Parts: sequence; C-alpha cells; structure tokens
Amino acid sequence: MYPFWEVPIFTSGMVIALIATFHILPCHLATGAFWFTVFVERKAYKQNRPELLEFIKKYSLLILIFCFVIGSLSGVGIWYAATVASPRGISGLIHNYVWGWATEWVFFVIEIASIYVYYYTLGKIDSKSHLMLGWVYAWAAWISMIIITGILAFMLSSGKWVETGGFFDGFFNETYWPQLLTRTAFMFCIAGVYAAIVASTLANKKIRKELVRSAGLWGVAGMLAGVAFAGWYLYRLPAHAKGLWLDESLPYLGHLLNAAAVAYAVVLIWFVVCCLIKPRLVGPVSGILILVILFLGIGAGEGFREGVRRPYIIDQYMYGNQIVAKDIPAKHVKAEIPRFNKDGFLAHLYFRPNKIDPKNRTDLLRAGSVVVHHECGNCHALDRFGKIRPLPVLLANLSPESPGDIQDFLDSLGDYPFMPPFAGNELDKKAASEYLFSIVRR
Ligand code: HEC
Repeated sequence: MYPFWEVPIFTSGMVIALIATFHILPCHLATGAFWFTVFVERKAYKQNRPELLEFIKKYSLLILIFCFVIGSLSGVGIWYAATVASPRGISGLIHNYVWGWATEWVFFVIEIASIYVYYYTLGKIDSKSHLMLGWVYAWAAWISMIIITGILAFMLSSGKWVETGGFFDGFFNETYWPQLLTRTAFMFCIAGVYAAIVASTLANKKIRKELVRSAGLWGVAGMLAGVAFAGWYLYRLPAHAKGLWLDESLPYLGHLLNAAAVAYAVVLIWFVVCCLIKPRLVGPVSGILILVILFLGIGAGEGFREGVRRPYIIDQYMYGNQIVAKDIPAKHVKAEIPRFNKDGFLAHLYFRPNKIDPKNRTDLLRAGSVVVHHECGNCHALDRFGKIRPLPVLLANLSPESPGDIQDFLDSLGDYPFMPPFAGNELDKKAASEYLFSIVRR
C-alpha cells in the first residue's frame, strides 16, 4: 500500500470528480468539433462562400485554446489526482492498458499537431489540403475516444478479462459499445453548443442565423441519438450495478440520473427553441448558462457511472480502497483480503506506527486512524464537517454505544452491496473500532 492522500472535508474522490467533470467539456468538444468544422469548410468551398471561413477561424481558435490549453491541463490534472488518490488503481490499469494509452497518445500527438497546422494555415494553403488536415484531426480525435472509452468501460465491467486477463477481453466488454456510441452522440451535442455560441458572435447576420441553425440541428441529432444509446447503456449495465441503482440500495444514484435527465432536457429545449426556432436568442449569456447546465448534467451522469461501480474501483478486481478483491490467475494476481485477515492489514503497510500495544488506547487510536484512512478514506470523509459521506455522521446514525458495537458493524461491512468487507486481523479491527468510536459525532 502507498501512503494515503487525505483531502479534508471533500475526499480525494471529489477532487478527481470535479477535475474529470470539467475535463469532459473540452475533451468531448475536441472530439466532436471538427466534424462540424469540416462540414462547414466543405460547404464554404463547394458553394464558393469564403465568408463562412470566418466562423472556422473563430471556432478552431476556441478549440485550440479551450481544448489544448485548458483541456490538456485538466487531463494531466486527472492523472495527477488519480495517481495520488488511487495509486494502486492506476497501477492496475497501467499494467493492463499501457499499450492502450500509448496508442491513444500517438493519436493525441496527431491531434495537437494537426490543429495547430490547421489553424495557422487557414486561407494560406490550397483548400483541398486544408480540408484534409481537418479530416486528419477529426479522425485522430475520435480514435482517441475509441481507445480511452475501452479503458473507462473496463473499470465498470471487466468482462471476460477476469478469467483470461486478455487485453481485448477487458477492452471490448459488455458496456463498451453503448458507452462509445453514447459519448460519440454526445460529442456532437457539445460541439453544437459551442458552435452555436461562436456562430452567434459573427458579424454577418445571415450567416450567423444559418450556422446557429446548423449547430442546433447537429445538437438535436446528437441528443436524440444519445438518449437511445444511453438507454442501451443502462440496459447493458452489469447486474450488480443495476441492482445498486434499481433496488435503491444507493438512492442517490437515481437522483443523479434524474438530474442528468433534467439537464439533458433543458439543453435539448435550448437547441430547439434558441437555435432552431429563434436563432437570435443564442448569445454569450444564454450560451454560458447552458454550459453551466451542461456541466452539472455531465457531473451527474459521470457521477452515476462512477457510483454504480461500487464497491469496486476496477470491476471485480480491485475495491474502492485499492485492496485486490479477487484471484486473477491469468495475471498472477491474488485476492488480498484472506492474506490481510491472516497477517494483519497494518503489517502490509510501509508507513505505520512502529509499535502497537493493544492495551494502550493512544497506540490503538493511532493505529486505528491509519487503518481507517486506508480502508474507508477513499469513499468517506473522516472529519466532522466532511461533505462526502462523513463517517462521524453516518456512524452516529447507527448510535453505537461502545467500540464493540462498531466492531460488530465492521464485521457486517461486506454485507452492504456497495462496500468492501473489512480487511485485517483482530488487532486491526480493534484499533479501527476505537478510532471510529472516537470520531462519532455526538
Ligand atoms: C468503495 C467505497 C466505500 C468504502 C471503501 C467504504 N464505504 Fe462506507 N459507504 C459507502 C457508500 C457508497 C455508502 C452509502 C452512503 C450513501 O448513501 O452515500 C456507505 C455507507 C456507510 C455507512 C452508513 C451505513 C448505514 O447503514 O447507514 C457507514 C457507517 C460506513 N459506510 C462506514 C464505512 C467504514 C467504517 C468503512 C471502512 C472500514 C467504509 N465505510 C468503507 C462506500 C464505501
């Protein structure tokens, strides 16, 4: 086990969630935008309307800055945050998908190179070659989505990989295609929102109206296809995930899905009313408002996708607290709970108290704090005013009268469908119970 990264009040998971939700806007814009750009550019050449190129210039500059400065920074931010929050989770993914990422990065490099060349050569090279650059970007960006979605989907449904350990068995798992198609449809919707906002700033009224309408049509088409594919995605969720959501073991999952649906409906209405029916309603104000709603909707949708994965961070293989859940013989990986129960959890940590006298309460509290941070801290805030499932409050609801009561609760932890069982021997459990009892909010 690596040292634990504690983020007071919010938990490390929330830090990743915020960065990742924000990242969705630039990354889906990056993958979707150029299909629209190429569409408009082709039109400009075919109908001999160079005035349309003003939009291309503005739109591709937005993509360049928003996706390749802010988007790249937040992408790196996800890596940093995820690496310190769940080093073993990231390590598990890298051990299986390092070549997936390597391939994706090749396409990133193509994307980055081609958008710079595209932007700076607009109007300076012949139209055919310039259009070709646009196609190169559009395909490279979408291929990077094809790859990263496999790894994301693997974390929710690891498929046959659990038995075979095969790269493609985990990659093309049961939620892969619906998720890829949902994201593909959705990228057109995000591209449409930004395109409409950029188009609304054009000086020429006629072109402004025409392009806002086109962006609206792309958006509506993306959203309608997206609903169908999202339905397919929900249908293909693994039984366990469906259970958490539909049996209401975790009622907040249903709330998140409803919130995402409301945001979806608002964006759809915006497309229809503001882009198709009355294009002059689109402007920076309504645009920013719709971006905020989009952001909240994405946050809810991605929160749902993360939430139905519990108790795992990688389906069946690794729990949310980074303890290996299952033997994966093909990968020479062994389940850790039996070993931790036998030798003790603390014994497997590099950073732990040197000596623990089971009769000394201070020793127990110190050791218990270490155990609890590692075993619970990925999913729960540990401070009284913590925002994300604060343990002092959740435990208080169970009204424990003594550390013994908490010990009984820890014994039943694995019975919850969304929590891993407690890992450790009697001493770990005793120490954890003493510590947890000391933080219960009274
Ligand atoms: C993989 C994530 C995860 C881990 C690890 C985890 N929990 Fe939880 N826990 C949850 C979720 C999700 C809930 C449901 C609370 C909610 O509605 O958000 C929950 C609920 C609880 C509750 C309330 C139970 C009830 O019946 O009301 C307690 C108490 C709790 N956890 C204690 C712990 C302790 C102690 C640990 C560490 C030994 C732990 N959890 C580890 C995810 C986790």
